[in-house]
Amino acid sequence: MTITARTRVAIVGAGPAGLLLSHLLADAGIDSIVLDRRSRDEIESTIRAGILEQETVRVLSETGASDRVLADGSRHDGIELRFEGEGHRIDFPSLTGRSVWLYPQHEALKDLIAARLAARQDLRFETTVTGVGDIETDRPWVTATAADGADLRIEAEFVVGADGSRSVVRPAVTGSSGGYFREYPFAWFGILCDAPPSSHELIYSNSPAGFALISQRSPTIQRMYFQCDPGADPNALSEGEIWEALQARVPGTALATGPIVQRDVLRFRSFVAHELRRGRAVLVGDAAHTVPPTGAKGMNLAVADVVLLDRALRALLLESDHRLIDTFAETASTRIWKAQHFSWWMTSMLHTAADASAFDRRRQLGELRSVVESEAGRTFLAEAYTGWPHEA
Ligand code: DHB
Repeated sequence: MTITARTRVAIVGAGPAGLLLSHLLADAGIDSIVLDRRSRDEIESTIRAGILEQETVRVLSETGASDRVLADGSRHDGIELRFEGEGHRIDFPSLTGRSVWLYPQHEALKDLIAARLAARQDLRFETTVTGVGDIETDRPWVTATAADGADLRIEAEFVVGADGSRSVVRPAVTGSSGGYFREYPFAWFGILCDAPPSSHELIYSNSPAGFALISQRSPTIQRMYFQCDPGADPNALSEGEIWEALQARVPGTALATGPIVQRDVLRFRSFVAHELRRGRAVLVGDAAHTVPPTGAKGMNLAVADVVLLDRALRALLLESDHRLIDTFAETASTRIWKAQHFSWWMTSMLHTAADASAFDRRRQLGELRSVVESEAGRTFLAEAYTGWPHEA
């Protein structure tokens, strides 16, 4: 037996994109059902990046999606780029008038889930989507298997794929055309450790031994990453070996060490779906694009997609005005490709490739110096890092 439910917008994926979209739509009186294959606990405990652009923070706080982002997040007014043993600070407010906030993504997810549940949002965890159809009509649908094994059919007016890099909605939108794609010959070895921050701001370090990023989570927990092989086994290194690898990549800064409480290997690639919309289905967030993590654009780009889509769906569903949904893919693409470029650029400028020649290495140092020694260079980096303004 199949249980049928009706809603205006069927949202697949309860990550930042899907949850924020349901929150924004609800504010306009547009109801939605949000489905996610994962449990609430899994969503709330998966460790992701921690840097939010100023516009992301504004959207989360002004719309009531998160009160804690301002109360518990910490404002960062700069980062350090470190190479050849020296640190170079990029000061965001003086270059752009903006800052970023350090607030872990899973905390933002806890806030969004709590806000949606308090508003009695229909939010279904452990529900696996099995099909998407009729997206080129006014009555698209999604079928799914619920946590209790029941078959569901959600009949909607619009379907949104916000279901991450392994999106099940994506094939319905892109057909066989797939996407633009690039892999990288390295990955990040990430740790969480019980120790106070080693530096009050984040350090992005380029060294002959490879890249490292010294980030933080709280006054007592640090998040750090170092460049590793994509096939690396996170359990193959002892704690001592991890600290040695990290310290070798951040010469000149003594790292605060402590027990390592979590370790993971993040593989990365650049991807943009060839199609972001087909009829009454749209892709947002990681379902539409993934970026390498250097520069922390992933969640911020998802939020920018959703702000655009919210406006387009309000016009379509409340006023039968198709204009914004018709231009959604083109408008979203502009920011997506700027973020793709920035993430690729930060990655290529800071990591060292195993097959880099002496020329490549010296050119890379020349590039880093061109950025830090030029106000235009620092401004370019700071504008992208703190986030371009959302489209008016
Ligand atoms: C973090 C991750 C990033 O990719 C980044 O550029 C900055 C910070 C983090 O996890 O803290």
